[in-house]
Amino acid sequence: MNKIDKIRDELILAPKKWLVTGIAGFIGSNLLEELLKLNQIVVGLDNFSTGFQHNLDEVQSSVTEEQWNNFSFIEGDICNFDTCARVVKGIDYVLHQAALGSVPRSIENPLATNAANITGFLNILQAAKNENVKSFTYAASSSTYGDHPALPKVEENIGNPLSPYAVTKYVNELYAGVYAKVYDFKTIGLRYFNVFGRRQNPNGAYAAVIPKWIGAVLNSEEIIINGDGETSRDFCYIDNVVQMNILAATAKDEHKDNIYNVAVGNRTTLNQLYSYITKYLEDTANISPATPIYKKFRPGDVRHSQADINKATTLLDYKPKYTIQSGITLTIDWYLKQ
Ligand SMILES: NC(=O)c1ccc[n+]([C@@H]2O[C@H](COP(=O)([O-])OP(=O)(O)OC[C@H]3O[C@@H](n4cnc5c(N)ncnc54)[C@H](O)[C@@H]3O)[C@@H](O)[C@H]2O)c1
Repeated sequence: MNKIDKIRDELILAPKKWLVTGIAGFIGSNLLEELLKLNQIVVGLDNFSTGFQHNLDEVQSSVTEEQWNNFSFIEGDICNFDTCARVVKGIDYVLHQAALGSVPRSIENPLATNAANITGFLNILQAAKNENVKSFTYAASSSTYGDHPALPKVEENIGNPLSPYAVTKYVNELYAGVYAKVYDFKTIGLRYFNVFGRRQNPNGAYAAVIPKWIGAVLNSEEIIINGDGETSRDFCYIDNVVQMNILAATAKDEHKDNIYNVAVGNRTTLNQLYSYITKYLEDTANISPATPIYKKFRPGDVRHSQADINKATTLLDYKPKYTIQSGITLTIDWYLKQ
């Protein structure tokens, strides 16, 4: 039996109390769904800055009434320490997802990104340490690799950050390391590569590329490719990320005070991504997209990104179940149903 299946069985037998911050967002709401389906008790915190009530409503419709009753939601801001102290009371496992994502957003408004991603992070870390929770897992980011040229990316080798967002995510890792040294409070940081899947917001200036392009094709809008289309990313389907969060939360002490890449370990160019998305939409929904329009490269974007996932597979038994293609199929099916 897979390690993850064994952990799921154990959790069902002995439910734990979880705090998920950023619960109304894309990744947070998917964590909520999985945890409720495992009959866990979940406290969620969100200030709806980029999250949505409809994400929570969709989770509610996918679980039983009894499972939904195991969930309590607190609307609040991680920038307020008292709120953080209140939500960690009695919690076993923290999954900290709340942050302002997006490199361009951080370039336009570095103060807002800094407040949520650094002050907010420190508040929740300190509150969790004071409460002596069993584990603390947080969303780090592949942007921390910055200008380091090596591929694939190995956790130990990082470069200089290329955006305010990348600075904030690196500062999280620095604080986490210091909390292990100074307070013996050991955490796990998950360096997510480009995550995609159901409930990712397709709208707005800061939307991620996959939901944005699917939305554009469905609405007969143009698809814009920043640069020559040969920029590449290690796109990771949401269910791989959910698996990794559960593995990290329940990891042995000796595997904590660590950072892990969360990805598939492959690289897909934007041109390839365009063809995967458009081909599947043409085959299943008979929708033909317009040819893409190539524009300037975006400032702050790294050229190539691909993870080495050996550390996660070896130490935590992470086994990404979904490739980019299988994930794209499931994602498009979900958007078509909306
Ligand atoms: N999606 C990706 O590809 C990706 C890649 C690397 C890292 N991450 C990180 O993963 C985490 C989740 O990202 P996501 O894609 O689900 O984004 P998201 O924007 O959908 O979710 C973030 C959630 O946090 C909430 N939030 C933001 N600031 C808050 C605050 N001050 N107080 C309370 N709640 C707040 C938002 O309202 C939102 O619901 C973030 O930390 C992000 O930086 C995501």
